[in-house]
Amino acid sequence: MADKLFIFDTTLRDGEQVPGCQLNTVEKIQVAKQLEALGVDVIEAGFPISSPGDFNSVIEISKAVTWPTICALSRAVEKDIDTAVEALRFAKHKRIHTGIGTSDFHIKYKFNSNRDEIIERAVAAVKYAKKFVEDVEFYAEDAGRTDNEYLARVVDAVVRAGATVVNIPDTTGFRLPIEYGSKIKYLMEHVDGLGVGKAILSTHCHNDLGMATANSLEGVLNGARQVEVTINGIGERAGNTSLEEVVMALKTHPYLNIDTNINTTKIYPISRMVSSLMNMPVQPNKAIVGRNAFAHSSGIHQDGVLKNAQTYEIMDPKDVGIDDNSIVLTARSGRAALKHRLLVNGIDIDDEKLDKIYEDFLRLADKKKDVTDDDILMLAGADRSANHFVKLDYLQVTSGVGVRNVASIGLKIANEKFEATATGNGPVDAAIKSLKKIINREMIMKEFTIQAISKGSDDVGKVHMQVEYDGHIYYGFGANTDIVAASVEAYIDCINKFVNK
Ligand code: KIV
Ligand code: ZN
Repeated sequence: MADKLFIFDTTLRDGEQVPGCQLNTVEKIQVAKQLEALGVDVIEAGFPISSPGDFNSVIEISKAVTWPTICALSRAVEKDIDTAVEALRFAKHKRIHTGIGTSDFHIKYKFNSNRDEIIERAVAAVKYAKKFVEDVEFYAEDAGRTDNEYLARVVDAVVRAGATVVNIPDTTGFRLPIEYGSKIKYLMEHVDGLGVGKAILSTHCHNDLGMATANSLEGVLNGARQVEVTINGIGERAGNTSLEEVVMALKTHPYLNIDTNINTTKIYPISRMVSSLMNMPVQPNKAIVGRNAFAHSSGIHQDGVLKNAQTYEIMDPKDVGIDDNSIVLTARSGRAALKHRLLVNGIDIDDEKLDKIYEDFLRLADKKKDVTDDDILMLAGADRSANHFVKLDYLQVTSGVGVRNVASIGLKIANEKFEATATGNGPVDAAIKSLKKIINREMIMKEFTIQAISKGSDDVGKVHMQVEYDGHIYYGFGANTDIVAASVEAYIDCINKFVNK
């Protein structure tokens, strides 16, 4: 019989730490329900002591899902653990994930401590968490740069204290696959309490050198039985290990005899959902879920694939949920079709919200021939501006070759109307300058990217923006078939972040 590999998804904790990609609780619940449908074993729902938002999300996710274990992160500190216990009170299956840095860098510079004291703190945290929950995972932060002998002492001590899972994070993404694999092998061989029917080791690999998936697989091949992953590999810096890459690597290599519980046909829909809710584009050549992952453009490849897909395809796109025949909505589609398409994409909404999205959908369908899944996912997340203090009332732009670029803008600020006009060296510049005339604060645009959602000149353009104000960076997002309007929406989104602070 194949060995079972547990899939621990940390999209909503480590993944969500990406600046500008934070989700609200409702969005997190949508993702959590899709993770449940995908078949993950553990959902790391947040770090409850870090903010009231995280605390609340862990509570609400615990109520919303049934089968996966809900995990809450804590430092090796009693008040963190107390808060995690409190946040997990509605979870049907619960886990506390506690830990401390174990590399000499962390011990010396972060804790100003020594190796023995760190083991004492680790053991005390596990014992304390065990008073409240049976399932306790311990993380040895920066295990990647912790020497193996000392790491084995830490793992041995926390397993004796009752840890059910020990996480070996390559926090800085430094290790080569062969090194990470031999670290796991060393621990398996030198710690008695690990193995079948005992505590298990978990991989948690970051992608700073592009080796997160390779490192995780080496960990599994050397005895780890849980992998910590995120959808699309999102996460701070270069990200975490991607769920889809590990799962499909194991599925396409069945002789490795390692199974997961994942329903792979749900991979593509959740990938798009996470990308859309977090406003985080997936790179086109991303393995498994990138737009080009199954696109054959050279004549030789196309010819081969038409004769027999296996000539150039190692996976059937349908196995990861890519369905070429997916229905495209148009202006004639009704509410029921829209609701169905939202459901297929994992979004279950009440009739009031459906009415609102349907109105936006009709407006978009008037401007665009076909409305795709990506478009409706964008619409479903679009009511972010509902509580905005500063709102766009109207925008009129004249631009072209041989004429002056002029923009007139109307804003509603706390329901009062303001207007301004400005010229610029292009339509976006003119629009932003007119906006700045009204807002009149020292704002510096640090980043500005425009991206089309799928294809076609009628496509919705997405704009990501970073604006610096008063020494802080604010992230904004806008989406519109008119890229000047999308740019202004993104700028207004940034402004609302600091006026609402
Ligand atoms: O990368 C890391 O070390 C972590 C731990 C907090 C688990 O995310
Ligand atoms: Zn991490």
